[in-house]
Amino acid sequence: MSIDDFKRAAAEAALAHVRPGMKLGLGTGSTAALFVELLGEKVSQGLDVVGVPTSESTRELAERYGVPLTTLKEEPELDLTVDGADEIDPQLRLIKGGGAALLREKIVAFASKRMIVIADDSKLVETLGRFPLPIEVVPFGKETTRRAVERVARDLGLSGEIDMRRAEDACPIVTDGGHYIVDGKFGRIDRPEELAAALAAIPGVVEHGLFIGLADLALVASANGVVTIEPKGRSIPE
Ligand code: 5RP
Repeated sequence: MSIDDFKRAAAEAALAHVRPGMKLGLGTGSTAALFVELLGEKVSQGLDVVGVPTSESTRELAERYGVPLTTLKEEPELDLTVDGADEIDPQLRLIKGGGAALLREKIVAFASKRMIVIADDSKLVETLGRFPLPIEVVPFGKETTRRAVERVARDLGLSGEIDMRRAEDACPIVTDGGHYIVDGKFGRIDRPEELAAALAAIPGVVEHGLFIGLADLALVASANGVVTIEPKGRSIPE
């Protein structure tokens, strides 16, 4: 079985948590895309749900697969968000934003009663930080903001490069919200709550990819099947 098979298995397991009438947050990334595809199949068989996409790419996918869409303006509170992650620790603290959608992903997850993370087991880590931490910044003063990120990280004992994320043409990539992304290659982040608070206090930082206290469970697939992980690392075979 390949990683794509694991991603699909996790996405399939998430479908079991979807009930008729639910208002869903639809995540971004390759794993979330499989969930949207499978959800579209269920919708074509009569499942009545609506979704709020966390990116323009997910909006396009949902439209292609026939998933009815709404907005947070029409539905400010959602029942369930299903999304992928770049890293998942045993307390279900996450790094997200590898697909540059972290701002809308966090807004949608925060608007949801529950968040389920779907992933293959390569995303599980003991300590966050192997994956560079995406931080969304406004274009104005981007270098000043990047340096401020460097300073607060250093104050917390974190070093490592903080690079502007660029497209193939070397231009900064632009998020759906019109912002830039810097990626903090900090290595091990022992105190993610402190880093999250310090980053949030920097003017120019719109949002960061540490998702803390948002995920209710993770469905993680490997060659051994899908395991449900609840915060504090309690695992239940599906
Ligand atoms: C996008 C994200 C994605 O959920 C994350 O990058 C995981 O993506 P994939 O399922 O493709 O590995 O946070 O901003």
